Amino acid sequence: MVTPDLTARVGSLLLKNPVMSASGTFGYGLEFAPFYDISRLGAVIVKGLSLLPTRGNAPQRIVETPAGMLNAIGLQNIGVERFIGEVAPRLEDAGAVFVANIYGRTEEEYEEVARRLSAVPALAAVELNVSCPNVREGGIAFGSTAKGLYGLTRRVRAATAKPLWVKLSPNVTDIGEMARAAEDSGADAVSLVNTLLGMAVDPRTRRPRLGNVTGGLSGPAIKPVALRMVWEACKAVKIPVIGIGGIRSAEDALEFLLVGAAAVQVGTANFRNPNACIEIVEGIRDFLAREGIRGVKEYRGSFLP
Ligand SMILES: Cc1cc2nc3c(=O)[nH]c(=O)nc-3n(C[C@H](O)[C@H](O)[C@H](O)COP(=O)(O)O)c2cc1C
Repeated sequence: MVTPDLTARVGSLLLKNPVMSASGTFGYGLEFAPFYDISRLGAVIVKGLSLLPTRGNAPQRIVETPAGMLNAIGLQNIGVERFIGEVAPRLEDAGAVFVANIYGRTEEEYEEVARRLSAVPALAAVELNVSCPNVREGGIAFGSTAKGLYGLTRRVRAATAKPLWVKLSPNVTDIGEMARAAEDSGADAVSLVNTLLGMAVDPRTRRPRLGNVTGGLSGPAIKPVALRMVWEACKAVKIPVIGIGGIRSAEDALEFLLVGAAAVQVGTANFRNPNACIEIVEGIRDFLAREGIRGVKEYRGSFLP
């Protein structure tokens, strides 16, 4: 049996394989080192970073749902300076491909975080989380209008020489339009989807189950929505599309590659099974070998609608 070529290209980056851990579900990657060698992954996307340290939302921050979870962590993180001083040097020794996920409350904050991370050698790319409220626009998320997304991406593009991925929100009407806005403003790739807005209430106490009232839905429940959006984004742009949403098995990952994703990210599945990402890498390899397919590049986008 031929050993399939698992390498996947995302713009200028050639990854070992198409499986990455999604931001916010895998710490800085180093936390998973006791389970397996994280350099075996395509890439590790680190927890979202902001200019200043952020404490996040009051509890309850997580609620289980029948096929996934709601989270309202509130983007808790140590801030970009501590990341650069304390975490980034340790990433250099891990031998994995790391991508920083960043966010801000204003365009200037995003720009500043991207600029400071430009000089960090351990980072292969920057992923923009555009699902954050813009405090200057009454709290509407940057990524909920094509205009907001275009303006933000253009500014961050000018602030860093690193490859720039824009992580799209699914809470929009036309995902193709958002992907095109990212492409037109200089993104090297788009990744999608982030979580779907949702909420849970307790009928007895009459109170919300999340401290923040609303939160983001993730996990298997969102996979069909994510797959449809990834397919639409693949048809809308020429830049690589990274598929995210409810992936917990090699078969799930293969569905995203089939409709055209260049690579995938795995989030919530890491909480149920810390070995999820690496099992997905192995499952993709076994599938391609069994089917006599030479590699990921040959398989991806071969969907027959
Ligand atoms: C607890 C938690 C924290 C997250 N934190 C971030 C984050 O900091 N930045 C970001 O862009 N996405 C964040 N996400 C979204 C995930 O990266 C991913 O896009 C989403 O959960 C959908 O994928 P999944 O169904 O495989 O989890 C978070 C998700 C969860 C569940």
